[in-house]
Amino acid sequence: MPTNIAVYPGTFDPVTNGHLDVIRRGAQLFGELVVACAVNITKQPLFSLSERLDLLKTVTRGLRNVRVESFEGMVVDYVKRQGSRVILRGIRTFSDFEAEVQMALANRTFAPEVETVFVCASLEESFISSRLIREAAALDGDVGRFVPPEVLEALRGKKRALHAQVGSHRKGK
Ligand SMILES: Nc1ncnc2c1ncn2[C@@H]1O[C@H](COP(=O)(O)OP(=O)(O)OP(=O)(O)O)[C@@H](O)[C@H]1O
Ligand SMILES: [Mg+2]
Repeated sequence: MPTNIAVYPGTFDPVTNGHLDVIRRGAQLFGELVVACAVNITKQPLFSLSERLDLLKTVTRGLRNVRVESFEGMVVDYVKRQGSRVILRGIRTFSDFEAEVQMALANRTFAPEVETVFVCASLEESFISSRLIREAAALDGDVGRFVPPEVLEALRGKKRALHAQVGSHRKGK
């Protein structure tokens, strides 16, 4: 049975203009897009889960067919629970491509009925990553062009944590 629902999973720490571009494209392709914010990640995120969810909800509020949720565990299981069969992912560079194809093939072995669909962000957004934002913000770089205004504001509130990161790296910790 064809599905009209797609799931876009990620960490969104924080959501960037690159993510938003992928979300807008997904919302145009599918009847419903679930943006699924991952609970379990290996690295300690800068923004808590509830902060990441709040920012995602705020920046997608104008998109009627986009829903923001959190998920835990295997993406394919979550996708099936949503009544979907599509994982939406974004591709930036060749290095993304390698990791993304590996993940898509692994997910296919776990759930052959679930398909991964890739989109590219527009050229101007395609180099943006959350990591770039976190690192530039920690060095007081101007990241206003790369994130929605609400995220820029939230980053200002994280100045202390961001500076602490830079400090601990400088001390070689
Ligand atoms: N600028 C972008 N253009 C296209 N796809 C993107 C962009 N930024 C993120 N994505 C895609 O969004 C999905 C979720 O990514 P994720 O939440 O890991 O963000 P990230 O920017 O890669 O974060 P981090 O730098 O912390 O790894 C992945 O498929 C990723 O390739
Ligand atoms: Mg990433």
